[in-house]
Amino acid sequence: MKILGIETSCDETAAAVVEDGSRLLSNNVASSMDLHAPYGGVVPEIAARSHIEVILPVINAALKTAGCTFRDIDGIAVTYGAGLSGSLLIGVLTARTLAIINNKPLYAINHVEGHVYANFLTESSLPGYQMPRSAPNFPMLAIIVSGGHSQLVLFENHFNYKLLGQTQDDAIGEAFDKVAKILGLPYPGGPAVAKAAKLGDSTAYILPKAKMSKYDFSFSGLKTAVLRLAQAEIGESYDFPSQKLPERLSDAQKTNIAASFERVAIETIVDKARLAFEEFAPRSIVIAGGVASSQELRRQLSATIPIRIEYPDPKLCTDNGAMIATLGCFKAQFKLPPVDPYSLVIDPGLSM
Ligand code: KG4
Ligand code: ZN
Repeated sequence: MKILGIETSCDETAAAVVEDGSRLLSNNVASSMDLHAPYGGVVPEIAARSHIEVILPVINAALKTAGCTFRDIDGIAVTYGAGLSGSLLIGVLTARTLAIINNKPLYAINHVEGHVYANFLTESSLPGYQMPRSAPNFPMLAIIVSGGHSQLVLFENHFNYKLLGQTQDDAIGEAFDKVAKILGLPYPGGPAVAKAAKLGDSTAYILPKAKMSKYDFSFSGLKTAVLRLAQAEIGESYDFPSQKLPERLSDAQKTNIAASFERVAIETIVDKARLAFEEFAPRSIVIAGGVASSQELRRQLSATIPIRIEYPDPKLCTDNGAMIATLGCFKAQFKLPPVDPYSLVIDPGLSM
């Protein structure tokens, strides 16, 4: 069974074909990231316009790479939430139209749930992908860490899961993006902070870890602590404007702050994941979302939790169509009813 996945929830226009929920046949992504970089964050209007320009070429390229036409496709899966309204609309309207004219079942996918399903891809017909040796087993603990979400979710089985806890303010990826701005590092912040952190001393500064109820997180205080630390390092008070910090901080201060922040932010997630591992004894742990490409997260998890964790290729951690197609395959396989292509609407605030 081959499913075409379409993802346009933020600034990536992505399409992919996945076979039987495990085999990656194509994975095409066009990012409008460069257009947003001058603004230091995603501009929703620019993202939506870019989706319109590239969505059909991206879908055609994904079909071509997979060696398919619509005749070979068994269904279309599309992200309908959560995300930016204008961005989601382009993907959903395109998928609805393609489902109607090609007479294919349409599966509506929750973006965050989709991220988790990147972990079920174990084979690739594309070069340059490092695939896990086996698919995860249930019960499965999912550590979801992206620009919009920080959640621990326990999956008893496909489509049967429980939210254990989540962030009460900023998502971890958002904290990486904000710290990057404080340090004057380019957008997107996560990879830039990770790169700077490699050159720094992660024990140079003591930063606070929020004390939250059992499996919940908070990253807003950590971000503010980084701001206060940067101001104190240059001998200024809390009213010193953050935009002027980068020019006053030395390279060593920047890399040491990046490394200390990264260590504590990731420790916050890993501490709770270890607690959940001890309480629920899952047979597998998976990581999902953009921050799952963090080498520091992988290092700390491997060092802290006594279970073999298979990591998805970093290209499948940030937004992509393959994860959407994979979840679509499982919906089809488990005979979950497709949605009506004439009436599917977007849900920008959709949660797990
Ligand atoms: O999942 P994703 O592509 O988009 C959302 O659904 O939010 O995640 C993007 C987030 C951004 O906040 C980005 O800064 C962060 O993932 N990110 C990272 C790394 N790579 C991407 N954060 C930390 N370390 C990384 N290596
Ligand atoms: Zn995402």
